[in-house]
Amino acid sequence: MNGMNGNQNSSKRFLKALRHEPVDRAPFWYMRQAGRYLPEYKATRADAGSFLDLCYNPKLATEVTLQPIRRFGMDAAILFSDILVIPHALGQDVRFVEGEGPLLDPIQNLKKLSLLHMDHLHERLAPVYETIDRLTTALPTETALIGFAGAPWTVATYMVAGRGTPDQAAAKTWAYRDPEGFSKLMDLLVQSTAAYLLKQIETGAEVIQLFDTWAGSLSAGQFDRWCIQPTAAIVKILKARYPDVPILGFPRGAGINYVRFIKETGVNGVSLDATVPADWAAEALQPYGVVQGNIDQRLVVAGGQGMIDDARRILDGLKNGPHVFNLGHGFVPETPPEHVAALSDFLRDGKA
Ligand code: CP3
Repeated sequence: MNGMNGNQNSSKRFLKALRHEPVDRAPFWYMRQAGRYLPEYKATRADAGSFLDLCYNPKLATEVTLQPIRRFGMDAAILFSDILVIPHALGQDVRFVEGEGPLLDPIQNLKKLSLLHMDHLHERLAPVYETIDRLTTALPTETALIGFAGAPWTVATYMVAGRGTPDQAAAKTWAYRDPEGFSKLMDLLVQSTAAYLLKQIETGAEVIQLFDTWAGSLSAGQFDRWCIQPTAAIVKILKARYPDVPILGFPRGAGINYVRFIKETGVNGVSLDATVPADWAAEALQPYGVVQGNIDQRLVVAGGQGMIDDARRILDGLKNGPHVFNLGHGFVPETPPEHVAALSDFLRDGKA
């Protein structure tokens, strides 16, 4: 094990910003920085077989994690994996079908749920831990390593519907009809996700990000129970063992609920989706933690002066508090790598 979670004194720019220490410029990384917009990713992906085969191949997963770092020199690398390895490791059938996204065998009742268990969790996720172990030596010394998982609500939306959905109807229907039953699924996700993330930290992840992509679909009355509480439960377990490892949350689309999220979950910071105004985030969120974000990923598809102007707006708006530059959501496959290079050069040198 290369566990290097005693990173209190690390001089990595990203870790310094997360500790609220002064930095020479805002650190940056991008959601989905590894992926289909990069030709070298597509080549490695073609060698790997299925998408899950790639996630469970330590050598190739290490390679695709490093690809964007080599090109653009982000301040942090994010482990290459997927949020759906947890349902897979719990025993649910998970496949990724070209052009269709993830397909799972839906879990919509307690009988189906009872077939899932944590008995083989670490054994099935061992290749992911091996990827992290390799990355601790393969990454440039100035680059931090982010481990991650999906937040329980978002993972549950895929597990219950059996696929990605525009409205998260299947999970909502179960949660609203039978909150006690649905909370059994959520408890399993809290426990397995916490165990998975503890191992990621033990193996060398220096920061953890929890992706709650569908937090914004929860009604005001449900946000606490299905977004804040499960996140807070995971944070509590991780902080009990690793109080100094920063944890970041991404309750995408949460709107003004970002305030409750950053105050009540125990996270050290949040990722903002592109709808959040910088001046509001500076006042309402930065006093409570780090903010990451939040250029619209479609502006990077467009590129040019519009992209640079918006990056400058965000940097200016958030410059008085801890800020890590990022996208509002992940890169889409049609993103030209030259635009990512131009944005990264601007973030590094402030010139465009
Ligand atoms: O570079 C990185 O960001 C690290 C790797 C990463 C992936 N997925 C790789 C991936 C991360 C952090 C994720 C998170 C993830 N996965 C989320 C949360 C963040 C978000 O984007 O909202 C979600 C909801 C998923 C589930 C998922 N995985 C979907 C819905 C899809 C299909 C859509 C698509 O883009 O194809 C995936 C597949 C996936 N995960 C790909 C990659 C690079 C593309 C698969 C391929 O190569 O064919």
